Amino acid sequence: MLIVSGPSSRSLGERIAQLLGVRNVEVESKVFPDGESYVGLRNDVKGEKVAVIQSTYPPQDTHLMQLYFLLQAVGRLGAEEVTAVTPYLAYARQDKAFKPYEAVSIKAVIRCLEALGIRRLITVDVHEPSIFEDAAFAFQNLSAAKALAEYFLKLNLGELWAFAPDVKATKMAGEAGVIFRTPHGWFRKERDRDTGEIALKSIGGIEVKGKTLILFDDIISSGGTTAAAAKRLKALGAEKVYAACTHPLLMGEALRKVLQSGIEELVGTDTVPSPVSKVSVAPLIAQALKSEPET
Ligand code: R5P
Repeated sequence: MLIVSGPSSRSLGERIAQLLGVRNVEVESKVFPDGESYVGLRNDVKGEKVAVIQSTYPPQDTHLMQLYFLLQAVGRLGAEEVTAVTPYLAYARQDKAFKPYEAVSIKAVIRCLEALGIRRLITVDVHEPSIFEDAAFAFQNLSAAKALAEYFLKLNLGELWAFAPDVKATKMAGEAGVIFRTPHGWFRKERDRDTGEIALKSIGGIEVKGKTLILFDDIISSGGTTAAAAKRLKALGAEKVYAACTHPLLMGEALRKVLQSGIEELVGTDTVPSPVSKVSVAPLIAQALKSEPET
């Protein structure tokens, strides 16, 4: 197997190649004066099984085009089998038509990946895995919840309780709860799709008073969800609140907003490089690449 590390995930790709003990094919990338992206491989991949590692965090459109071009290149050069690894997959949150006449953006991304002939797609904590059920390639979604929970366990903070800021995040919180050996809790969140305003409607699972809680979510983008959840948990008497997320997009003032909400520490993974990306998903992805894709 060869690893091709795309421009958005060079160090993650190198780490995966090291863990697997395989060659990391370097990629040359540049932007033409008119803004178009260029990518080229520095070595041949003919007859090889290839994994292209390219996370598609902002600027999403550039990173997606670079991914498509890399997949075109490895296909053109005669790779035997191609796996696309997009630790953060852009547009996954637009997985249905929320309003009657809008695009289901992730479906367009899936059709492009199919057309480029990939055998398998690997993601980490993608927003809605079921959207890939009808894809023409094998699909594997990995969870970073255990690795994030283990980071907090090592800090020796006493008894820990995982908490989901919305019902969708209960899967991650549940997996973390297994590591913490405690039950998890959750809020039921509603977001106004036009204003983005967040309302935490009800709380479930555990009593939070006096506890040290870790909020688990797949993405922190504006920071609004995590900040609202932290403030509410503190108001309900939580002793300390930490936050963990797989994809720390942290747009604009998000980091400041989260830290000002009473969060002791925010930890993310390197699916998105950021100041809080302290947990690597490289071991998780390397392990997945060792196994054969399910058909
Ligand atoms: C929503 O369903 C996701 O799981 C995250 O809670 C959400 O994307 C976080 O976004 P923000 O940081 O902008 O509130």
